[in-house]
Amino acid sequence: MTTHICPITETSLEEAKQILLRGGTVAFPTETVYGLGADARSDEAVRSIYAIKGRPSDNPLIVHVHKDYALNSLVFDDMPYAKKLRDAFLPGPLTLVYRSKGAVSKIVSCGLDTLAVRVPQHEGAQRFLRYVDLPVAAPSANRSKHISPVTAQHVYGDLAGSVPLILDGGACSGGIESTVCDVTGPYPVILREGLVTREQIERVAGRCDVYHSREGEQVRSPGMKYKHYAPHCRTVLFAPDELERAVSYFSDREKNGERVLALCEHAVLQNFPKGKALDLGKNGEEFAANLYVLLHEAEERCDELIAVEPAERGGVMAGVLNRLRKACGAKQ
Ligand code: TXA
Ligand code: MG
Repeated sequence: MTTHICPITETSLEEAKQILLRGGTVAFPTETVYGLGADARSDEAVRSIYAIKGRPSDNPLIVHVHKDYALNSLVFDDMPYAKKLRDAFLPGPLTLVYRSKGAVSKIVSCGLDTLAVRVPQHEGAQRFLRYVDLPVAAPSANRSKHISPVTAQHVYGDLAGSVPLILDGGACSGGIESTVCDVTGPYPVILREGLVTREQIERVAGRCDVYHSREGEQVRSPGMKYKHYAPHCRTVLFAPDELERAVSYFSDREKNGERVLALCEHAVLQNFPKGKALDLGKNGEEFAANLYVLLHEAEERCDELIAVEPAERGGVMAGVLNRLRKACGAKQ
């Protein structure tokens, strides 16, 4: 199969619609990462997403809809705080997990009685979802366990030959995946941290917990139990107070003749040789926006990436550190 990267125009949107109606897949941009979309109502189409990604069959998918889509045709929207969250954050990088009405393929939710729904705010995503006017099941458009794509070229790098059309909406501004929040209980529970923070949700809903699975317990967001987001190069991660160790580790590796790069926040960049450190930026939002771009760059340019955690905590850092730690494996 040939893979075309196309700007978002009437012609490419019509092509996207025809592909989806035939049970095929289309990659599209959102403000978080690119998604690999298929018609959520079709078992066969949804199955092909799992096949293309090599995704475990017990990891459910998010359904994407445009902002005027009738949510109550898909889910039971019975928690008053959920409406408040929608008014405050949607369209945007927040996915809400509701009790499902069973209107889409059971394979989307892997047999769970819930359904995750997201209304992205990216203009290209809205145009695409409005044009096709379908519930679009879409995971991130990468092979399972690889880093999520934040440009059309990243999608192409991972999925060329497996997807006929990549709608190119430029680089994703947010940079890490949406916050996934369960709204089936008496108060919201975050299943995956992301760009909408626990503090922001708490302010709107009065209370918000973050779910952490305990050993032996059935996980509530199956995706979180898998190793994720890893670049192809080797990686090590140092805590902010281990900068000195990171610097000497870096120079030891370099002396050994290895191709190494550092990944760190702007404030400590000058500790590494010029041109050998990737700049994550100056605050949480910048770290999020830059993280996957730089991880993709690292795997092209080095054999080992030596990452130092930014020192900032709170807010979007929960999501940033979750992704950075998953990408860079265990701490050194
Ligand atoms: O920003 C995003 O959310 C991107 C863009 C494309 O929208 N999508 C994305 O999808 O990150 P994916 O498949 O890579 O991650 C979906 C996450 C997984 O952790 C999955 O377990 C969880 O959402 N999830 C989906 N449906 C669920 C459900 N019914 N209950 C609990 N967790 C669910
Ligand atoms: Mg993913």
